[in-house]
Amino acid sequence: MKIVILTGAGVSAESGLGTFRDKDGLWAQYDLSEVATPEGFARNPVKVHDFYNARRANAAEAEPNAAHFALARLAREHVGDVVLITQNVDDLHERAGQDAMHMHGALSRAKCADCGAKWAAVLKMSARDPCPTCSRPATRPDIVWFGEMPEYMDEIEVHLTTADLFVAIGTSGQVYPAAGFVVEAARAGAATLEINLEPSDVAGLFDDQRIGPASETVPRWVDEVLSGASSKQ
Ligand code: APR
Repeated sequence: MKIVILTGAGVSAESGLGTFRDKDGLWAQYDLSEVATPEGFARNPVKVHDFYNARRANAAEAEPNAAHFALARLAREHVGDVVLITQNVDDLHERAGQDAMHMHGALSRAKCADCGAKWAAVLKMSARDPCPTCSRPATRPDIVWFGEMPEYMDEIEVHLTTADLFVAIGTSGQVYPAAGFVVEAARAGAATLEINLEPSDVAGLFDDQRIGPASETVPRWVDEVLSGASSKQ
């Protein structure tokens, strides 16, 4: 059985990293048009780098939680394929021992706004940092901003249409294309499961739902799948 998993900020919430749309979330503290759009970066690159430097420092201090470790265990022990797509830009899945397709980019990478080259980010990044490829001072975070194309979309399409089970964990279902993945997977015949602290905006599109904090609900679900007890086999 091929399992395709999509995670959002809720899987890292109990590691102390903020979500975006919970009541005291990042978009309640910052104007996303200023820190998460190409126009915002063009207007004020220092403000944008300050925002991501702070998030990079938070992520470096955070630890993976039981949900990250349970998903890594599923990938190791499940007989079929386990594919992880994440909207998160932190590296907690990797630090729990699991590769993830970062469709919204990664705090751990830098990108040249001029030539597009990518490289490992330093903790405190600045637009003045020269690009190692073209030497121009055009360094930006390798984050997919609003209005930019998410990454890995071709690969993701293939996985959604060949999944036996699609599971969305800790995402509010408010940002497309990720919020529509459940429709594509279901159309191709996958069973669908949502795991969240509360029903997402697209909860009604899922066959099944587990409600509760990810650090409890995800390990319990993984135990069931690995023991063959889960109804979503
Ligand atoms: N356990 C499980 N789910 C949780 C927990 C928790 N402990 N805490 C919060 N959640 C859930 C919330 O109920 C909500 O559904 O996590 C979700 C967080 O939603 P958002 O803050 O909207 O985060 P996300 O869905 O990842 O946002 C998607 O929007 O701003 C863009 O690029 C950004 O990747 C992000 C995208």
